[in-house]
Amino acid sequence: MTDLPLTLRHEHAADGAAIAKLHERAFGPGRFAKTAYRLREGVNALPTLSFVALVGTLIVGSIRLTPLMVGQTPALLLGPLAVEQAFSSIGIGMNLVNRAVEAARSEGHSLIFLVGDEPFYSRAGFVVMPFNRVEMPGPVDPKRLLVLELVPGALAPLEGRIVGVKRSNAA
Ligand SMILES: CC(C)(COP(=O)(O)OP(=O)(O)OC[C@H]1O[C@@H](n2cnc3c(N)ncnc32)[C@H](O)[C@@H]1OP(=O)(O)O)[C@@H](O)C(=O)NCCC(=O)NCCS
Repeated sequence: MTDLPLTLRHEHAADGAAIAKLHERAFGPGRFAKTAYRLREGVNALPTLSFVALVGTLIVGSIRLTPLMVGQTPALLLGPLAVEQAFSSIGIGMNLVNRAVEAARSEGHSLIFLVGDEPFYSRAGFVVMPFNRVEMPGPVDPKRLLVLELVPGALAPLEGRIVGVKRSNAA
């Protein structure tokens, strides 16, 4: 970790513009074409499961979780996760992941999916989703579709199409 005064807190509505700029810098304009973004289109991030990292008052990292359905089973999608490059490799990214995962666990969620690099996310317990069990709404390298079971056995019966839970359908 860092000696800098780093804090994590829930995302506030007023953080939106700063986070959008962070996403632009971290992912570039091609981000909207990604399949993970398609799963988030029209889907609200869950406020209790979305966090920012701050150095002083400056937002230097962000993580959001959104609701999904996999067939008939509710689940979560982790992402975007982004950390300002100037503050990379001091533990902020993994701190955000762990904080969001623990919050999801304490709320009783059973599964978190994401599209990302297994060498990074395996540090938080994510594994590659067994191939051909679920159907994504667009192309994804199957080695990058990762899942974390928060409730043992939650993955076993899982199959079907992964869809985001749109605002109008959300509770
Ligand atoms: C990926 C990202 C969130 C990591 O944030 P971070 O605060 O630097 O992460 P941490 O400090 O917790 O961890 C850094 C470690 O993870 C490693 N790491 C970072 N990205 C990685 C990746 N894609 N694959 C494998 N390892 C990775 C670093 O090399 C570093 O390793 P070390 O501890 O052995 O030095 C950040 O680099 C970022 O915002 N990148 C651009 C956006 C992005 O790719 N987001 C993830 C989308 S899936």
